[in-house]
Amino acid sequence: MIDKTEIERIKQVIVEKLSSIHTLKRVQKINQLVDEIAGQEERETESLSSEEQVVTPWVVSGKIDHDKVIEKFGCKRIDESLIDRVERLTSRRAHVFLRRGFFYAHRDLDKILDCYESGKKFYLYTGRGPSSESLHLGHLIPFLFTKYLQEAFKVPLVIQITDDEKKIWKKLDKEETKRLGRENVKDIIACGFDASNTFIFSSYATVGGKFYENVVEIADCITVNKANSTFGFTGEASTAKMIFPSVQAAPSFSSSFPHKLFPDEKKNIPCLIPCAIDQDPYFRLTRDVAPRLDFIKPALIESKFFPALRASGNNGKMSASDANSAIYINDSAADIKKKINSAVTGGRDNLEDQKKYGANLKEDIPFQYLSFFLEDDAELEHIKKEYGEGRMTTGDVKKRLVQVVTEIVERHRMARAAVTDEMVDAFMTPRPLFE
Ligand code: TRP
Repeated sequence: MIDKTEIERIKQVIVEKLSSIHTLKRVQKINQLVDEIAGQEERETESLSSEEQVVTPWVVSGKIDHDKVIEKFGCKRIDESLIDRVERLTSRRAHVFLRRGFFYAHRDLDKILDCYESGKKFYLYTGRGPSSESLHLGHLIPFLFTKYLQEAFKVPLVIQITDDEKKIWKKLDKEETKRLGRENVKDIIACGFDASNTFIFSSYATVGGKFYENVVEIADCITVNKANSTFGFTGEASTAKMIFPSVQAAPSFSSSFPHKLFPDEKKNIPCLIPCAIDQDPYFRLTRDVAPRLDFIKPALIESKFFPALRASGNNGKMSASDANSAIYINDSAADIKKKINSAVTGGRDNLEDQKKYGANLKEDIPFQYLSFFLEDDAELEHIKKEYGEGRMTTGDVKKRLVQVVTEIVERHRMARAAVTDEMVDAFMTPRPLFE
């Protein structure tokens, strides 16, 4: 592959050779062509080396090594002492996603805890890009975790529905993204958020006023080069893609909310963002920009990717495009059973080998799912030992998982059925959150 400096050199030579005899326009055209060829080549290499890990907010592929992601992005690992501190400050057991290492990385979480400890308020910000009508289990995870954070710290929460993002990237119809957004809001409400303390908003409906002022301020700090290097945009990216990161950044700053959500004297309230680690590039950029605008850098608490049922080990995340690799919140009990039974496991080929060697738990998706959803530490430990040492079979583990997941999905289905249009409107109405 031609590297970047080589491309620059070639461009220089062409420009020098031709600039005296051609018009400026021609030179610009040559520049553009070289960029396009380089972009094309980059994309081709990406798709060829499928084993290589790629993590952007839109593409997660290859064999994912979560430690390497932290290293590359420059976030910190959440260690035992930080979890202990969260438990001490909130006087409750940490959520399973936290104590079992699923939420594993952070930026400035310690600072948010300092702020909380000294009696100052902070707020939570998370979001969802509405690309499908029904959510799958992987989509639900950040919301279940955010609900725990809201309850444990008793803080306000804002949730952005990025209908604009899905129009730009998925080329979905604008009205359709708005409709999907509203459907998704019902699933989000069904997670049990505190109505008096939660504001849910769509990008399309909200960007204006103070919010738009901040979008422009933020966008004005980000050069095209910076956006390209952070997100891998090439010269062919539309300019909508250039502006969107500032739309996702704006809710990290409390002054973006015009609607008396936050009292005036608290214009600069610290923000904590729970999200999956693929969202880090957005907020890395947000944090770079913050001091230039006299805003506080948002803190982050970030999760690993939720594994697909049918991709082995840590390969890829649960994806909305392969229906069989994911469990949907509207799947029937029979679907759930069928999907779990076809999951990739680390069990041995026959009973004899299973007894002799035990299961390879690292490659076993049903066991991994149990470690996310089975609350009982003692039972999980028991399964780990018995299955790992061959006294339990893959069938036993799948059966237990079917019970656990069916119960969660059933509970969610009932909660969602109780969500009315009036409730959606109430959550989406701007109103004071700090009261
Ligand atoms: N980009 C996210 C998605 O595609 C949606 C989102 C917007 C978000 N703001 C966020 C996610 C803040 C986490 C935190 O789903």
